[in-house]
Amino acid sequence: MTELPKKTLRVGFVGSGFIAHFHLKSMVGVRNVEVTGVYSRSAEKRARFSEEVTVLGLGECRSHASLDDLLSADDVDAIWILSPNYTRLDVMRALHAAVKAERSRIFAVACEKPLARTVGEAREMLRLVEDAGLNHGYLENQVFATPVLRGKEIIWRRAALTTGRPYLARAAEEHSGPHEPWFWQGDKQGGGVLSDMMCHSVEVARHLLTEPGKPRNSLTVKAVNGTVANLKWTRPHYADQLASRFGREVDYRNHPSEDFARATVTLVDEEGNDLMIEATTSWAYVGAGLRIQLELLGPEYALEYSSLNTGLKIFMSRAVHGSEGEDLVEKQNAEQGLMPVLEDEAGVYGYTDENRHMVECFRKGERPIETFEDGLAVVEMLMGLYLSAERGETIRFPAPELEDYVPVVARRE
Ligand SMILES: NC(=O)c1ccc[n+]([C@@H]2O[C@H](COP(=O)([O-])OP(=O)(O)OC[C@H]3O[C@@H](n4cnc5c(N)ncnc54)[C@H](OP(=O)(O)O)[C@@H]3O)[C@@H](O)[C@H]2O)c1
Repeated sequence: MTELPKKTLRVGFVGSGFIAHFHLKSMVGVRNVEVTGVYSRSAEKRARFSEEVTVLGLGECRSHASLDDLLSADDVDAIWILSPNYTRLDVMRALHAAVKAERSRIFAVACEKPLARTVGEAREMLRLVEDAGLNHGYLENQVFATPVLRGKEIIWRRAALTTGRPYLARAAEEHSGPHEPWFWQGDKQGGGVLSDMMCHSVEVARHLLTEPGKPRNSLTVKAVNGTVANLKWTRPHYADQLASRFGREVDYRNHPSEDFARATVTLVDEEGNDLMIEATTSWAYVGAGLRIQLELLGPEYALEYSSLNTGLKIFMSRAVHGSEGEDLVEKQNAEQGLMPVLEDEAGVYGYTDENRHMVECFRKGERPIETFEDGLAVVEMLMGLYLSAERGETIRFPAPELEDYVPVVARRE
């Protein structure tokens, strides 16, 4: 039994891809943490990751050739699950088995969004983590985004206190499409953009509407209504572009998922007031880069935020040439003209505060504000939205039919 609080939390990463490197960058702004291990299948990617840990001064990171090796390492207290959605449950099952058999000293786990591809899988993730007696955190970075932290605090302390609670949260996240083939494969990812990005929007909106200090389930979901569509990537020219970029495994002509989704989620608070979330997401937005837009409206006030309305902008004329990159903003689409720049992406998107919160909670044995329970609640909303889109009707909650529901685009047939 590990004695808490621990002075330093030693973290092992499962996954060494895009988001693992983002988390690593953010860890520089987190105290009381070392990154001591990594597992993913490719030795080369693990080596690159370990080198970056050294460069950033985040500890000595051992590269493990198997998941079990990482789970049984005596210098790992917690793991961050950062591998693709279709690997989640296997990682969690292996962790559960290792802890139950006393092969592992791990006492906490954090998992990237979405917690799972279906309600059934998400419920199993929660059952396994609880049965193994582990502390758990759900990694929804937008809840920790600096504008969300600051904006929510001001709205609730000043405006809501004197004039009444907020009643409408709007959230949108859009970019020009994901970077790896598995995101575009409905069965592997769990769906299309609704599963991949609406998970952020519904949770950050629910968070903004929740009174500070109250649990997320102080708001109850009454009904959800969703629409999905294919606006861009099923057009023959763009479907072929995906095939040539990712190979035949991404067949968007015959097996597309959705590249657009919109949602309304109706909730009720403890006093019986109706609250509304409006969310929209797409992989069909070609602007400077990733765009997150948020609004929170109440009787006498409004908050609004757009991640591309940056204070820092850089203009580069047509005479400036160079390689393509994502060095100005995530999912960047251009290197010329007037470009918005996020000076501290890891901070603004929320990774730094998210990791600080998880590390401090795990180290001290406290419950994070986002747990696997919240991850499950998010998947329930998403599956409700997919079912609503499939049936063309509003789905009222509780909805027992969601327990074994699989979105059309994620069904193997
Ligand atoms: N919060 C956000 O805004 C955000 C943004 C992006 C992604 N994400 C989430 O983060 C997760 C990873 O996304 P990503 O963009 O990092 O994907 P990615 O770039 O494809 O990276 C996936 C990583 O997982 C490893 N991997 C693959 N299969 C594995 C397995 N069976 N066991 C262990 N590792 C395995 C891969 O390395 P090997 O090839 O070496 O195995 C790779 O390092 C996803 O769940 C995604 O939804 C969140």
